[in-house]
Amino acid sequence: MIIETQEDVTRAVLEEMHRTPDPRTNEILSALVRHLHQFVKEVRLTEREFQEAISYLNAIGQKTTASHNEAMLIAGALGVSNLVCLMNNGEKGKRPTQANNLGPFYREGAPRYENGASLLISPTPGPALRFKGWVRDLQGKPVAGAEVDVWQSSPVGLYENQDRSQAEMNLRGLFTTAGDGSFSFTSVKPAGYPVPTDGPAGALLRAQKRHNMRPAHLHFIVYKPGYKTIASQVYDPEDPHLETDSQFGVTKALIGDFRRQPDGSYALEFTFVIEPGEARRPKAPITAKVAA
Ligand SMILES: [Fe+2]
Repeated sequence: MIIETQEDVTRAVLEEMHRTPDPRTNEILSALVRHLHQFVKEVRLTEREFQEAISYLNAIGQKTTASHNEAMLIAGALGVSNLVCLMNNGEKGKRPTQANNLGPFYREGAPRYENGASLLISPTPGPALRFKGWVRDLQGKPVAGAEVDVWQSSPVGLYENQDRSQAEMNLRGLFTTAGDGSFSFTSVKPAGYPVPTDGPAGALLRAQKRHNMRPAHLHFIVYKPGYKTIASQVYDPEDPHLETDSQFGVTKALIGDFRRQPDGSYALEFTFVIEPGEARRPKAPITAKVAA
């Protein structure tokens, strides 16, 4: 159609899109156009703001490399990651879930370890942590043979991919649950950390006078054919940023019970419940460590 007025634009775009053969693609793109146009109208977007928005979107891509995923960081900073997670887990949001944001720092190919092994490959000073986890189904029965990916920051708050002083794949490991559904490892207590602010995500936080900290946590992926794969995070209850997580990942169901031992080390036990569904490992947001 020939566009005459601003009211015609949305209709013109939707009319051109109606031939989209895949129904789900059609649903998503039609809704995107309707909401995007409504958003532009609601905020009365100026031409200057539009140009800035285009530069901002381009900068997200330009900032993204094999060892950094800026789009994932922004999705977290806007709360979209956790919203998608809570809508799609816990029987579609009916019950609390141990599923959580994947986050921007998951790498494939972590070393496979026996239960009880240490995640440390290079010396990593800090309070020792002993972790024991269980994987159970909705009925509470142990799930044996589940593969559990684990990754975490160091006690100074850096993942190995960000830190040249850590060995490749330090503080990352792949475990398999035993007959009782348990898996275990030793490590060091992770620290809270600042998310990178040298790109568009940092500009967003600064514009809103928000801090860029994430409360201390461990990351997990629980994978077992026949069950819906979940990414998870378990948070330190004493972290000062628990209620203002810059990535909005913290949920009540994921606050861990870190128990300080007389020798200053910590013990943590946690149960992950998985539900029937599609077993599919998430795509790794990064594929490499920072260049040496
Ligand atoms: Fe993290």
